[in-house]
Amino acid sequence: MSYNQVHIMSEFSKQVPLQSGFGEATNAREVVAGLDLAGKTAIVTGGSSGLGFEIVSTLASAGANVVVPARNTANAERVLLGIKNVSVAALDLLDPSSIQSFARSFLSKGCSLAWLINNAGVMAAPLHRDNRGVERKRLGWAVSSCARE
Ligand SMILES: NC(=O)c1ccc[n+]([C@@H]2O[C@H](COP(=O)([O-])OP(=O)(O)OC[C@H]3O[C@@H](n4cnc5c(N)ncnc54)[C@H](OP(=O)(O)O)[C@@H]3O)[C@@H](O)[C@H]2O)c1
Repeated sequence: MSYNQVHIMSEFSKQVPLQSGFGEATNAREVVAGLDLAGKTAIVTGGSSGLGFEIVSTLASAGANVVVPARNTANAERVLLGIKNVSVAALDLLDPSSIQSFARSFLSKGCSLAWLINNAGVMAAPLHRDNRGVERKRLGWAVSSCARE
């Protein structure tokens, strides 16, 4: 994107405060304080570590049912043990058949989805190739892309 394009975009999309009452110092627990999310279901990819874990524990603390798809379900169950309203399901975002299987299983339960939080991703990975010789950075891009589609 050229400087001119960026300049034109910034002319047409000036940032305006949302007046939400939240700011850069607000934490997740403060955002959900007073909310009752009982009966709502969220899927949070990558929910067993880092930012995803915080999202899962925060939504669950407000009463939401949270489904955490993970490629290592045993590890995810161990990490999330003790958090109410959380369930773990198998999903590898680099494996299309795994994605379809997860989606079918979720849909078969007939519950409506309030939030799909596409948090899983791979960043700053060292050079690594899979057994096809594909660079992991490309896989990282693929995970991030699949996770957001
Ligand atoms: N932390 C930062 O400073 C930062 C900055 C900019 C953007 N982000 C983005 O924010 C998101 C969360 O960051 P984070 O630092 O909390 O990440 P993180 O701790 O590295 O967690 C990433 C999660 O993605 C999951 N994941 C990776 N590949 C997957 C796959 N093929 N299928 C299913 N799940 C997969 C991982 O599962 P496993 O446990 O199985 O590996 C892990 O739970 C990421 O999308 C990241 O790119 C983070």
